[in-house]
Amino acid sequence: MTPRVYLERDGGIAVIVIDNPPINAGSAAVRQGLMAAIETLRNDDTLEGAVLIGAGNTFIAGSDLREFGQPLTEPQLPAVIAAIEACGKPVVAALHGAAQGGGFELALGCDARVAAPGTVVGLPEVTLGIIPGAGGTQRLPRIVGIPPAIRMICSGERVLAAAALEAGLVDLIATGNLRSAAVAHARQLKGQKRLVRDRQVPPASSADVATATTAAPQAGKRRPAVQAAIDAITATAQVGFDDGLADERAVFQRLRVSREAFALRHQFFAERESAKHPSLGEATARPVERVAVIGAGTMGSGIAIAALDAGYRVLLLEQDAAALERGTGRIHAHYASRVQGGKLSASAAAACEARLQTSLDWADLASADLVIEAVFEELGVKQQVFQRIDALARPGAVLASNTSYLDLDAIAAATSRPHDVIGLHFFSPAHVMKLMEVVRGQSSAPDALATGLAVGKRLKKMPVLTGNAFGFIGNRLYAAYRRQCECMVEEGAWPEQVDAALRAFGFAMGPFAVADLSGLDIAWRMRQAQAATRDPQARYVHIPDRLCEAGRLGRKTGAGYYRYPEGDQGPQVDEAVHALIAQARADKGLQPRELGDDEIVRRALLAIVNEAALLLAEGVAERATDVDVVLVNGYGFPRWEGGPVFWARERGAAALQEDMLWLAQLSGPGFVTGDLRHLLTPEN
Ligand code: NAI
Repeated sequence: MTPRVYLERDGGIAVIVIDNPPINAGSAAVRQGLMAAIETLRNDDTLEGAVLIGAGNTFIAGSDLREFGQPLTEPQLPAVIAAIEACGKPVVAALHGAAQGGGFELALGCDARVAAPGTVVGLPEVTLGIIPGAGGTQRLPRIVGIPPAIRMICSGERVLAAAALEAGLVDLIATGNLRSAAVAHARQLKGQKRLVRDRQVPPASSADVATATTAAPQAGKRRPAVQAAIDAITATAQVGFDDGLADERAVFQRLRVSREAFALRHQFFAERESAKHPSLGEATARPVERVAVIGAGTMGSGIAIAALDAGYRVLLLEQDAAALERGTGRIHAHYASRVQGGKLSASAAAACEARLQTSLDWADLASADLVIEAVFEELGVKQQVFQRIDALARPGAVLASNTSYLDLDAIAAATSRPHDVIGLHFFSPAHVMKLMEVVRGQSSAPDALATGLAVGKRLKKMPVLTGNAFGFIGNRLYAAYRRQCECMVEEGAWPEQVDAALRAFGFAMGPFAVADLSGLDIAWRMRQAQAATRDPQARYVHIPDRLCEAGRLGRKTGAGYYRYPEGDQGPQVDEAVHALIAQARADKGLQPRELGDDEIVRRALLAIVNEAALLLAEGVAERATDVDVVLVNGYGFPRWEGGPVFWARERGAAALQEDMLWLAQLSGPGFVTGDLRHLLTPEN
């Protein structure tokens, strides 16, 4: 086995190199190697100090998360840090790339930190449902003070080297060679220990502490790890370093095996896997620098912003001068508000806008490496647009459609190069939403799809590969969920009860408030289009149609499932809707019954799980865990619940089979049950 840690000598300084590619994760082998190296440092009289440095392009960028669900192997990280503190000689951490989580805690346990420009440091543990467990909550406040430590740990924020220097998190930025700078620093410290544990916690006003302890849980969605982190940080000034350290470790050990931590780790791995696609073989992405966006509407302008933010040169193309002006205005207003809100510097905003070219002249398309179409959702219009693109785009350019529901193959067929055509399905607002579906048509070339995935990554999106089927993965799952919620309303629940139960479960919004926000007419038009082919025996809930027929199209008409009075008061329960629903039940001769919140949540989740099983069987979704990535990143499913597949696996095969029989019975005729086997088998 390659040694994970090795010791080199630079005069009297030991250079301890951590070599555990690709990210130098702090595994058991790394900890053992560090322990042995520190032992050598302590016992070897010819050594006066040491530098800890990562091989390759990073320090320890994080921990080996797979260890966290099992009994931990010795030595554990706190013991390694304790050995550094007790070795009697100065140890300098040389940071480059990323020093996060356990990696940054290790650095905080050293006598000094020297960083290369561009390094990021951070303690993102709460985003994984745990708290820093190797002194992060005790050492960080001794450097920055309690309120900033709360902000940094509870948000899991990544701090860049320059800001880290200002905050005292690093002592020096190495302008030249990092290793030499760190060695020189270690020499300067000869004979001294400068431990963070020996510092006093800087005083903070109780008002500042109160502000930080109130704001952090709100920003952190009131998850238990956030509160536990606050408690550990604020305790340190009262209980002292050693007791604080022991308490922190106990909380870490408890949280790392909590259900929430398992769920968040599941989501973490699901997201990491979603970018890997064995079905694309060795295909590599085509180079993309210039992106053309066609259509400057809601989506087109959002996509343009996302591409500008990612450093692409963007051409925004329209057919209509007024629409182009409106779209350009939206982009400009967006950057102006980010500058005004202090989120972006004026020069960075100007640089983004300088990369934007707007045009009504289609000949400009010729220089684009990637064309993203975001025009009206009509097949005929899209086919015409793709014919024009085909005539003008350079050979090898990737041609993408942002369609939500149309058949990608029918769009690709309008071109002479269907292998270059893929779907890039963004979600609204396109510059904000993380999810991006990359749609594989029957002719899409693997390298065109790989390009879509690579562009998604550069746009800082969560790209998920999907087959070409009506609604792709996300909208199809969501439609099944919404239909089940409509069934429950027909049976006796009120929309506000369904919304409240699902919000209490953790969804960002309830399905009926979401429907009102997006407008009820889109789904209505779709149901009308499908009316001729619908199975007349299948259960059909008429309530949404009745709302639309009454002119209640959602927020935009001031009424939908809720009322929206003038002035932004949010959704108001409306007796008229109750009456309309009661009438719809009576028309079918249904006796309303009470549905408990537990039934509501269970049926809503089971409907998603069942649809996921169907998508997997049809090959639309390649991997069960992609379903979790889609719902968490595109539909407000609570991340800390892991996703519907995590939930289903936790229930287990036997209980789930029984649940599905129950769901099928309640859902009535036309409900198609999926085969759960594939969904229940973990991929790795
Ligand atoms: P929109 O109506 O706001 O914008 C469409 C724009 O395309 C208009 O500015 C129009 O002038 C322009 N356009 C129409 N025909 C054109 C042509 N032949 N050549 C050049 N420009 C043309 O529509 P929106 O909401 O931006 O949607 C665009 C596409 O994105 C649709 O396919 C839609 O299904 C898809 N989409 C929409 C989402 C949404 O929430 N609005 C979410 C995901 C996808």
